[in-house]
Amino acid sequence: MTLIDGKATAATIKAEIKQEVENIVAQGGRRPHLAAILVGHDGGSETYVKNKVLACEACGFESTLLRFEDDITEEELLACVSRLNDDPEVDGFIVQLPLPRHINEQRVIEAIDYRKDVDGFHPINVGRMAIGLPCFISATPLGILTLLQHYNVPTRGKKCVILGRSNIVGKPMAQLMMQKQWGDATVTVCHSRSETLKEECRQADILIAAIGQPGFVTADMVKEGAAVIDVGTTRVPDPTRKSGFRLSGDVRFDEVAPRCSFITPVPGGVGPMTICMLMLNTLSAAKKEFYQ
Ligand code: GUN
Repeated sequence: MTLIDGKATAATIKAEIKQEVENIVAQGGRRPHLAAILVGHDGGSETYVKNKVLACEACGFESTLLRFEDDITEEELLACVSRLNDDPEVDGFIVQLPLPRHINEQRVIEAIDYRKDVDGFHPINVGRMAIGLPCFISATPLGILTLLQHYNVPTRGKKCVILGRSNIVGKPMAQLMMQKQWGDATVTVCHSRSETLKEECRQADILIAAIGQPGFVTADMVKEGAAVIDVGTTRVPDPTRKSGFRLSGDVRFDEVAPRCSFITPVPGGVGPMTICMLMLNTLSAAKKEFYQ
């Protein structure tokens, strides 16, 4: 069994990004600039955004954090998005999700200029990704694909089962795993209503769990020799920790790991790669790699 080290892989890629940025600056270019909009005080979102700002520093990027209280109106938020769209100093930006209930999330996403949408959530990027055109690909699926490639996990012609159908992970993951230039795999998506979920999982060469239910995947659901990717990062109470919680994956690591050819831990697996891919997308935005 090979433990897939997302933290180390992300550190290597971030060092490569930093080197490229210093080369750009040495040639008189501008540092890539990522802006992040954070609404409210959700603990998870605060941590994610803090880590995104730290990753910008590690990569030699400029970063701007724009903070708003929960009671911001949709109009105010849309006005902020519009300012970032028009700001020539900002290469890319993200609106951290989830947003408060009174704000229409989809409306905000669609207000983002797709050429600055480094999260890859805008329908233009989602659509282009689905048909294999150059675009920003959302960071979690891109991070998983990069890990699979980095560790030479065979995917071509293999059976890949994805647990979860979210817009951020499950759906784009399925699209990319089936595409010839990415996974080139046979893909099945299972979700909370799937009647044959366990049977499907048992046939998977690659099992990607993204349902947000701690410990959902048990040893009896995993084929001997499978590669298991755990996207879950649920906060569960843990009084032995200073923070009062720990992150729990969707996979029961201790019982599943002995059956696997490859497995990602939580934390230190997919999580660090997600932030790293956001940096890569921001570099692509600064270089105008996909759009003018
Ligand atoms: N919330 C959970 N994951 C993400 C992400 O990748 N991007 C944004 N903007 N919000 C998130």
